[in-house]
Amino acid sequence: MEQKLRSQNWFGKKGKDGFIYRAWMKNQGIPNYEFTGKPIIGICNTWSELTPCNAHFRELAESVKRGISEAGGFPVEFPVMSLGETLIKPTAMLYRNLVSMDVEESIRANPLDGVVLLCGCDKTTPALVMGACSVNIPTIVVSGGPMLTGKYKGKDIGTSDVWRFSDGLRSGLMTEEELSVAEACMCRSRGHCAVMGTASSMACMVESLGLSLPENAAIPAADSRRKVLAQLSGIRIVEMVRENLRLTDILTRNAFENAIRVNAAIGGSTNFVIHLLAIAGRIGVKLKLEDFDKLSASIPLIANLQPSGKYFMEDLYYAGGLPAVMKELISLLHSDCVTANGKTILQNVENAACYNREVIAATNDPFKPESGLAVLKGNLCENGAVIKPSAASPQLMQHTGKAVVFEDIEDYKNRIDDENLDVDEHSILVLKNVGPKGYPGMPEVGNMGIPKKLLAKGITDMVRISDGRMSGTGFGTVVLHVSPEATEGGHFAMVKTGDLITLDVLDRKLHLEVSDEELEKRKKENKNRFQIVDRGYVHLYQLHVEQAHLGADLDFLKGASGSEVTKDSH
Ligand code: FES
Repeated sequence: MEQKLRSQNWFGKKGKDGFIYRAWMKNQGIPNYEFTGKPIIGICNTWSELTPCNAHFRELAESVKRGISEAGGFPVEFPVMSLGETLIKPTAMLYRNLVSMDVEESIRANPLDGVVLLCGCDKTTPALVMGACSVNIPTIVVSGGPMLTGKYKGKDIGTSDVWRFSDGLRSGLMTEEELSVAEACMCRSRGHCAVMGTASSMACMVESLGLSLPENAAIPAADSRRKVLAQLSGIRIVEMVRENLRLTDILTRNAFENAIRVNAAIGGSTNFVIHLLAIAGRIGVKLKLEDFDKLSASIPLIANLQPSGKYFMEDLYYAGGLPAVMKELISLLHSDCVTANGKTILQNVENAACYNREVIAATNDPFKPESGLAVLKGNLCENGAVIKPSAASPQLMQHTGKAVVFEDIEDYKNRIDDENLDVDEHSILVLKNVGPKGYPGMPEVGNMGIPKKLLAKGITDMVRISDGRMSGTGFGTVVLHVSPEATEGGHFAMVKTGDLITLDVLDRKLHLEVSDEELEKRKKENKNRFQIVDRGYVHLYQLHVEQAHLGADLDFLKGASGSEVTKDSH
């Protein structure tokens, strides 16, 4: 039986209310027949010139609109707050939950039957999916696509090279002039970061969850096939409305398990953990931090992509894209999960082919046997911490060293290059107060730079531990998301310079070699440095943000309020 369209609660009305709902829309030159029962499809656009990764989205929206109209729907594009990872201070993560509120309320409050989410730069994907989950009308994601691979002095470069360049500059291996040339070479086309950073991990996440059409993750932004995918997604969302295929039909526990396994196989970002936990919280799927370790334990790394490997998203697309990766993994996935195109995962990938085994390896001959994200437990992180073994140094995976503690990011910046800093390559750098509440916003500073004097000795990696995050483009033996964060007064807040810390990734252990009695004593002496900002969104955020192991959502945003609006506006 055909469903009554939600939008008819606005445009299908007679009398004064219907007049008001339609009349003002008509000032845009819209004929009456658009309001007489066509599915109204919102295009939720994160276009902004301040979000360079999403700056091409108006054009992409035009392709989506073409598809919607072709399928008999009526497209309406609307803006939401956009988050440009590179410009927003203090960190885009502070505003992920705010954007999700914007998205949720914009969808619910308006006469929409379905929605297309245009996502690109890191936080724009989880924010839009989280918001849409809390409404649960038919939804499809169109990602903006990665940039073309950067070219510098005859070499392929990508955004992971930022870290190499900056260490090169600090150690004198690179000049300011060379850095300036590299700057123009790296981001040479439209699109988001071209490595398997957070944006690419998020694009792969939506494809593996089944929220987009196949191939969405890897088609470069500059490739005309990206527009084709956008148009096809426009056609599909109209069909989804007619089929009443909602997010709750797609986002099952099994779909989340698929996404975790795929993220492991591609060496996806550590940020994936926080965002997927938050999305699960919105849609009502029970997911725990430990699930990420358990579910990715048997998954080999089969995508040879930076920062864990060598290649770029463009190469992944030419090698067969995410469908080729998922086909390799199919026996490890729940292949019967339904996806946005109405087909199962198996149906979507069974004809996929791999065209380059250097980029997408076979599961029986993987690029690295270990993948995924290890979840650590121990007295230094009572509620857990994560590390990405594929981006870490094998010789540091079991390591005991003396802590060199920085109380906050300013303390780190002031002292890291001090010649008198008592640090060597065996030391463990500890950075506190960069968690969700404390910073606030949990910035990507966890892969803090190595002391200049050690760089000069040729040291390129050290164990680093923090309650913050790391850019998905980052790498190194970096322990992140320590929970509870220092601000919350757990054991992490009690670490002092000189304490011994043991990291044992094989045993999933992060241990502070300090007695319980001493820790208790320190707790009593601890002066809590935490201060709540006294107004505005940040005030609300600090009062309500949850810890990293729960997804860092605001506690009152968990779950959904559905799509019903019971009160009229006039
Ligand atoms: Fe936007 Fe990397 S800065 S994806």
